[in-house]
Amino acid sequence: MMFEPLKENIKALLAENATDPKQVMQGICELLKTSVPHYDWVGFYFKNGDKRELRLGPYAGEATEHTIIPFGKGICGQVAESNQNFVVPDVSAQDNYIACSLTVKSEIVIPLFKNGENIGQIDIDSNTPDPFTEKDEQFLEWVNKKVAEIL
Ligand code: SME
Repeated sequence: MMFEPLKENIKALLAENATDPKQVMQGICELLKTSVPHYDWVGFYFKNGDKRELRLGPYAGEATEHTIIPFGKGICGQVAESNQNFVVPDVSAQDNYIACSLTVKSEIVIPLFKNGENIGQIDIDSNTPDPFTEKDEQFLEWVNKKVAEIL
C-alpha cells in the first residue's frame, strides 16, 4: 500500500501550513482522494460548538447536502457517540446510514481526538465494495493524530 509515502506528503503539508489547520485538512483531503484509488470522497466533520451535531469541514469530492449531521444519525453520527472506528464494507447492509451518493458502496469513519475528547472525524466514501483493511484504519488514525496536533 501507498500509505508510508503519503505520510511524508502529509508531514510536508503540516510543516508548510501549521498555522492554518483548514488549509492542512483541505490539502489532506485532496491528497488522499487523488492518491488512494479506493478513496472517492474524503472529508472532515467536527462537533458544532456545544450542539449535539457534526458540521462538515474541509472535504474533497462531490458536494454533499449533509453538512450538518445530528449525533446518532448515520455512520458519522454513530461514531460521534461511540468514539470507535466504524468500517462499513457494504453500506446497503446498514439501517442507520445517510446516503450521500448512489455510487458509494462502502465507508470508513475514524474519530479524531484532541486531549482525549472526540471532537470530530475523518469520513471516507468508496465506490469499491469492501476495500478497507486495518492498514486504512491505522493510517487514518495517524492522520487524525497529526491534525489534532495543530488544532
Ligand atoms: N454516509 C455518512 C454521511 C456523510 S456522507 O458520506 C459525506 C453517514 O452515514 O453518516
